[in-house]
Amino acid sequence: MTRIGGPSLPQERRLTTELPGPRSRELLGRREAAVARGVSSTLPVFVTAAGGGVVVDADGNSLIDLGSGIAVVSVGNSAEAVVRNVSEQVEAFTHTCFMVTPYESYVAVCEELAALTPGDHPKKSALFNSGAEAVENAVKIARAHSGRQAVVVFDHGYHGRTNLTMAMTAKNMPYKHGFGPFAGEVYRVPLSYPFREPVPMTGEAAAARATDLIDKQVGADNVACVVIEPIQGEGGFIEPAPGFLPALARYCRDNGIVFVADEIQTGLCRTGDWFACDHEGVVPDLVATAKGIAGGLPLSAVTGRAEIMDSVHVGGLGGTYGGNPVACAAALGAFTTMRELDLVGRARRIGDTMLTRLRSLQVGVPAIGDVRGRGAMVAVEIVVPGTTEPDPTTTARVAAACRAEGVLVLTAGTYGNVLRFLPPLVIPDHLLTEALDVLEKSFATV
Ligand SMILES: Cc1ncc(COP(=O)(O)O)c(C=O)c1O
Repeated sequence: MTRIGGPSLPQERRLTTELPGPRSRELLGRREAAVARGVSSTLPVFVTAAGGGVVVDADGNSLIDLGSGIAVVSVGNSAEAVVRNVSEQVEAFTHTCFMVTPYESYVAVCEELAALTPGDHPKKSALFNSGAEAVENAVKIARAHSGRQAVVVFDHGYHGRTNLTMAMTAKNMPYKHGFGPFAGEVYRVPLSYPFREPVPMTGEAAAARATDLIDKQVGADNVACVVIEPIQGEGGFIEPAPGFLPALARYCRDNGIVFVADEIQTGLCRTGDWFACDHEGVVPDLVATAKGIAGGLPLSAVTGRAEIMDSVHVGGLGGTYGGNPVACAAALGAFTTMRELDLVGRARRIGDTMLTRLRSLQVGVPAIGDVRGRGAMVAVEIVVPGTTEPDPTTTARVAAACRAEGVLVLTAGTYGNVLRFLPPLVIPDHLLTEALDVLEKSFATV
């Protein structure tokens, strides 16, 4: 059984059994008896190693990874610098709690985030464990700074599964159903969703539609923060029309509202920039990061204007594990890898390859209503041919056909009709091409 992963793993698609194979099926039996039903798995093969662009399972199958564990292992699984830093850290110490006795790597991660996030103003950070926790803390900080309570979020938005972030998340099933009551003072306004606008609308007009609602239904003076994913992730990789984000950021600035970019899925090279906000030169007041930050270890952050971050009283932020030293060591290894391998450039090249290929596929496949994406965050939206009616059934079939052939793809979207692609940024070209061949064949067979 392959147990050593990382970049030296053979970069090949190899199917030795049906999926899941006998060993995975055995483990599945144990899983069903011991693991709660609410925790689901996209493809129930049990992993023994992963690296570069592949995931290897307990039966020796080697799958092409187009999901990166939901946008996490951008630097690849078990990237060399991550493994080295983590190993050294684990041998030195595993935990002190930064709130009890600090250590250098936490500070170094905050320095890196200050340098990398948009804007050259003085910045500070606080570290946490998960994306949801970062979003929750961004709201706490914005409320403490502004003395206001209302939080504005968008249609199709996803911000996590804790009580406040469930309230901020749009989609009921599976994220919210039966889990209320939700946190109050959360208001949802329309996004710019070019593929689904009833009439074509500029980004500025879509922003005016949203801000008009805020003015009329909430009152700008009551709003602590506007929280937005610059490209929506779980909502279906929705990229707002150009001008939408800058107009929103301007509205926030003019009204003393903290503009929070949830870059948990888009941040740290994924979209072919360090951050998705960089694309239009938007400078958020606060940025939430997680996922790709630490090569697979749990770490998240809120980074932002020093005066906003410091408006919270001493002791008001933190948590036992936030900024754990092993996770911080991993993050420093991940930052090194991103720079050394120019993963911003690599994400752009992945985007060029995928978008070119998918757009030519769209010409012959009428079920592909839209192809969109930036960098290595690419999606196709599947519809009933000739309409914009979402077709989640075909989407699920194509995804299942890809997985059966050893290509791990994910779906997304409010209507469940988006195939989304988030390959590790270190995936070799030949695997990317092979995965696209499998996808093309899957569209032909379903
Ligand atoms: C944009 C965005 N925000 C927040 C989250 C929540 O992150 P976590 O699952 O680490 O709590 C996610 C996770 O998918 C996300 O994509």
